[in-house]
Amino acid sequence: MPNQKKAFITGITGQDGSYLAEFLLAKDYKVYGMTRRSSTDNLERIEHLRDKIEIVHGDLIDQSSITSILKEIQPDEIYNLAAQSFVKSSWSEPLATGEFTGLGVLRVLEAMRQVCPKAKFYQASSSEMFGSAPAPQSEKTPFHPRSPYAVSKVFGHYITVNYRESYGLFACSGILFNHESPRRGMEFVTRKIANGVAKIKLGLTDELSLGNLDAKRDWGFAGDYVKAMWLMLQQKNPDDYVIGTNESHTVREFAEESFCAAGIKDWQKYVKIDSKFMRPAEVMELRADITKAKNKLNWKPEIKFKELVKMMVEAEITRLSSKGY
Ligand code: NAP
Ligand code: GDD
Repeated sequence: MPNQKKAFITGITGQDGSYLAEFLLAKDYKVYGMTRRSSTDNLERIEHLRDKIEIVHGDLIDQSSITSILKEIQPDEIYNLAAQSFVKSSWSEPLATGEFTGLGVLRVLEAMRQVCPKAKFYQASSSEMFGSAPAPQSEKTPFHPRSPYAVSKVFGHYITVNYRESYGLFACSGILFNHESPRRGMEFVTRKIANGVAKIKLGLTDELSLGNLDAKRDWGFAGDYVKAMWLMLQQKNPDDYVIGTNESHTVREFAEESFCAAGIKDWQKYVKIDSKFMRPAEVMELRADITKAKNKLNWKPEIKFKELVKMMVEAEITRLSSKGY
């Protein structure tokens, strides 16, 4: 197709990569997704898109792979979503997290600067960067990262801003608050709860072990958030934006609402607290001030807390039931 826009996505096999690929395909983009070598097939989330997207092989740790890919594709838009994204693992694998989640951003920016400086760049920054800063958090809130993951994301954020200011690159940092979906990785608390509740509902287990129930998060739907990523790259000038729902709920509330969605009332008897799910340093409350995104991007979340919980629990019950459980 002449004049078809080309988008390059790192992290296409992840939750957000799959939704973003769907979103861009619907807008007639040619979509290229980078995957790293793995001994097993992990394309589950993009299986349904396999004949519509082009997979290219590279790794965030390997500068030459990223540079060659960008030189060859010459994308209009680059979405850097790849990262070691599980906060808890960043204490057990701090160096790998720093390499992928922090320095990986610089590798993509450096490749872009050298071989396709006219492209537009999106960096997947995180509300984790705010850490212990009081809620609600906006673009002006100072960062206080509380994990090796968050520290790495702060580096990724500032190197994005720095490459914009140093070299005039069209580089944006999207500071996204937690966003979930039935495609969320199983280790994250929302999917873990939805899965556990579905198993209890189907009589497959009678226990759900969790860590800190008091932490509050601003949970939105991943499908809504990929639109915000795209909108950032359609603006006249590159900038940074906070994206969330402006509502926060505790992990306890997420669990209670999930049991309620499955029609289970006496939920407390199933939940056990296990210290192995606690973190060396916790982030107690994240809640987004999305004034800037509303005003400048004309963006707002469509799916709110209760609807999100219901969607995730029902998807888990359907998935497990279809496996014959
Ligand atoms: P995810 O499901 O964990 O996906 C992470 C992706 O990164 C996967 O495709 C993974 O590939 C890839 N990856 C990891 N290390 C890599 C490497 N060395 N080279 C190439 N690819 C690598 O994460 P997500 O929830 O979609 O989040 C997307 C991005 O947004 C991440 O950067 C995350 O930190 C950030 N973020 C997420 C949220 C959220 O609530 N979801 C909020 C704020 C920011 P494999 O399949 O090979 O592992
Ligand atoms: N994973 C997990 N498992 N978390 C638990 C559990 C448990 O059994 N019990 C309580 N929690 C609490 C965690 O301590 C944390 O306060 C909260 O639930 C959310 O944990 P996660 O779902 O693992 O997400 P996260 O907030 O640490 O990080 C996610 O959101 C960030 C944006 O704020 C990830 O997607 C990051 O990549 C993202 O940047």
